[in-house]
Amino acid sequence: MKEFEACYSANAINMKKSVIRELLKLTARPEIISFAGGLPAPETFPVADLKEAAALVFDKHAAKALQYGTTEGDPDLKEEIIKFESRQGVQLDAKNLLVVSASQQALDMVAKVFLDPGDYVIAGRPTYVGAIQAIQSYSAKVLGIPFTAEQDGFDMAILERSYQLAVGAGKKLKYIYVIPDFQNPAGFCWSLAKRQALLQFAYTNSLIIIEDSPYREIRFIGEHIPSIYQLDQQGANRGIVVNLKTFSKILVPGARVGWIMAHEELINKFVIAKQAMDLCTNVFTQKWLAEYMKTGKLYDVIKSTCANYCEKRNLMVQALEKYMPKRWEIQWTKPEGGLFLWLSLPKFINTDDLIYRAVEEEKVAYVISSAFYFDDPEKNAMRLNFSYSSPELIEEGIKRLARIITREIENYEKGHRAQTSPEGL
Ligand SMILES: Cc1ncc(COP(=O)(O)O)c(C=O)c1O
Repeated sequence: MKEFEACYSANAINMKKSVIRELLKLTARPEIISFAGGLPAPETFPVADLKEAAALVFDKHAAKALQYGTTEGDPDLKEEIIKFESRQGVQLDAKNLLVVSASQQALDMVAKVFLDPGDYVIAGRPTYVGAIQAIQSYSAKVLGIPFTAEQDGFDMAILERSYQLAVGAGKKLKYIYVIPDFQNPAGFCWSLAKRQALLQFAYTNSLIIIEDSPYREIRFIGEHIPSIYQLDQQGANRGIVVNLKTFSKILVPGARVGWIMAHEELINKFVIAKQAMDLCTNVFTQKWLAEYMKTGKLYDVIKSTCANYCEKRNLMVQALEKYMPKRWEIQWTKPEGGLFLWLSLPKFINTDDLIYRAVEEEKVAYVISSAFYFDDPEKNAMRLNFSYSSPELIEEGIKRLARIITREIENYEKGHRAQTSPEGL
C-alpha cells in the first residue's frame, strides 16, 4: 500500500525474498518430488530420546526453563557445547561462546554488527542465499569470488586481484564469508592449503573471516580438515575468525538453536545486538538440548546421519550417471559431506525458466542456480538436495529431471539445426 511504502526504511526496501522459500511454496504439492529444500532426513531425528529429554526438563528444570534466560545462553547447554567442540579439538571457553537462535540469526547479527550501507562482504560465487539475504537487508553488497576448477576453495589469484581493485576503487570491505565444509549450494570442501591461504589473506588485509559451518560434522567420506577457526587457534591465534555452528543439520532444525564461537570482544558486541533481536534464545529448547546432549547420544545420531546421507548421495550420483544425457557437457559435484550437489548444464539451458516446466510437466523441483549469486548470476546450474527424499524417490526424481533436460537439449538442437541448415536461412 502507498501509505506503507512511504514509511519503509532504505534497508527494508533492499530486503529480498528468499527465492528458496518462494520455490518451496511452489513445490509443496505432494505429487512433486522436491530436491529443492535444504531439509535433513526426518528419519534421522531421534524422536523417542528427544521426548525423554523434554520430559526431564519439565521434571528437573521447569522454573528455569519456562523463565527468561541470559542473552549469552543457558549455562548447561554451553557446557555441553564446550565438550562437543573439545572432542573435535576446538579449545573453547564460555566467554568465547554465544548461543543463538540458529545460524540464520548469527548471519543477520554479523551483518548488523559489521555492515554499513554500501559496505562489501567477500563471498563465494555461488554462496548461501540466506547469507546474501542478510547482507542485502543492511544495504551492503557482495564482492563475489569464483572457486577453482578443482573446487578446493576460492581462486586466490582472483581474490587478490578483486580485492586490490575494490580497495583502489574506494570500496569498504568488512569481512569474508565462507562455508569451507560442504558448502551450500555446491558441496565444495576447502583444502587445508586453501584454508591456510585465506587465513593469511585475512591477516594481511586486516579482515574478519565469518566461517559458517552447519555441515562440518556431516562428513561421510574422507578425513576431517581443521576449520579456519581451529587453524587460527593453533597458529597466530589472532581471534579474527568467527565460527557459526548449528544443531539444524546434526540433530533437528526445528530446535532453531546454534552457537557462535568468536573473540570475547566480538561476543560482547553480538550479545548487545541479540538483545535487541530476541533478548535470549528459547530457554526451554536450550535446556532440552542440554538434557539430550548429556545422554551422549548425539555422536551416534551424527554417525548414522552421515551413513544415511552417504547412501543417498551415492544413489543420486549413480542415477545422474545412468539417466542424464551423455551429449553436451553436463557435470555434477560429488561432495564428501553435506546435503547438496550442484548440477551444471550447457549454457543454453536457463534453469530459471526450466523450473516451471520441471514442476508442471515432470513434477520434479530443484533450486535455480541464480538464487546463489548476489549479482551477474550463472543461470545454467541447479542445486539438488539428496538428504530428504527416500532412495526410491531419488532415482525417480533424477529420471524425471533427466527427461526434461533431454527435451530441452533436443529442442535446442532442433532450433540450432533449423537456424544453420540452408532451408532455415
Ligand atoms: C550455509 C548455511 N548457513 C546457515 C544456514 C541456516 O541454518 P540454521 O537452520 O542454523 O538457521 C543454512 C541452512 O541451510 C546454511 O546452509
